[in-house]
Amino acid sequence: MRSHVLHIPLGKKEPMPSLDGAVVLVTGANGGIGTHFVQDALARGAVKVYATARSPRAWDDDRIVPLTLDITDRASIDAAVAAAADVTVLVNNAGAIPPSASLLDVTEADIRANMETNFFGPVFLARAFAPILAAKKGSVLIDVHSVASWYAFGGAYSASKAALWSATNSLRIEFAPMGVHVTGVHMGYVDTGMAAHADGPKMLPTQLVTTVYDAVEAGEYEVLADELTKGVKAALSGPVEALYPDLHSTDT
Ligand SMILES: NC(=O)c1ccc[n+]([C@@H]2O[C@H](COP(=O)([O-])OP(=O)(O)OC[C@H]3O[C@@H](n4cnc5c(N)ncnc54)[C@H](OP(=O)(O)O)[C@@H]3O)[C@@H](O)[C@H]2O)c1
Repeated sequence: MRSHVLHIPLGKKEPMPSLDGAVVLVTGANGGIGTHFVQDALARGAVKVYATARSPRAWDDDRIVPLTLDITDRASIDAAVAAAADVTVLVNNAGAIPPSASLLDVTEADIRANMETNFFGPVFLARAFAPILAAKKGSVLIDVHSVASWYAFGGAYSASKAALWSATNSLRIEFAPMGVHVTGVHMGYVDTGMAAHADGPKMLPTQLVTTVYDAVEAGEYEVLADELTKGVKAALSGPVEALYPDLHSTDT
């Protein structure tokens, strides 16, 4: 078995990442989780946080720099790179859900728009900030995925988060020799506006962000933030019908 596993040499070991003294940029900073990525970074010693949004708001803290950034807009990304050339921690948090979880019912434009926000946006942002992150050893990229990367309940959303998960894995390998640590985040429902429609257990945004920053500072590569997510990832190695048991009851 081992002989079939592709070995990718990653070069020198990265220094342990830390939020202490960091300059952080958070996308979707006005959102339920983004707000906590901003505030909790400061609590851990970050010296500056760029709180980016399509419509930035005022923050009552001199260490927080509001910055306009639409992650689907090339010119907006370029302007953010120019305005925030000292970033050491990039948090790709912004995301969106399509109007329907059905991949058959949404429009083609909705599918493309969701890929723009959840896949192309974070990937192009990581590429644009790559030279800045690589300039400081111990820099960090955090990509926020979802349990939906591994469980197809969200149609275009699940597909976009699966694509981002794959890109994160590629970026991790490419960034490692540059001393840039890459952490991917997967979780079930979090109590924010995005999950307002959902029933069932939701973790608090502050719990999630604490878990993510703890993992980053422990040098971990992947966050599975709840039991649901851990179960789904483990089930991927089994047959597909075990992950989707309703398939058998709907067979004709
Ligand atoms: N909540 C959950 O249950 C859950 C579960 C798994 C994963 N996630 C992921 O967690 C991340 C944060 O979501 P959340 O729960 O905090 O949702 P949220 O409160 O709806 O926040 C999402 C943020 O993304 C921003 N955004 C959307 N499109 C953007 C664009 N083109 N450019 C810049 N910003 C954009 C939104 O900005 P506007 O204010 O301008 O719309 C909003 O601030 C997302 O990636 C989401 O997919 C959430």
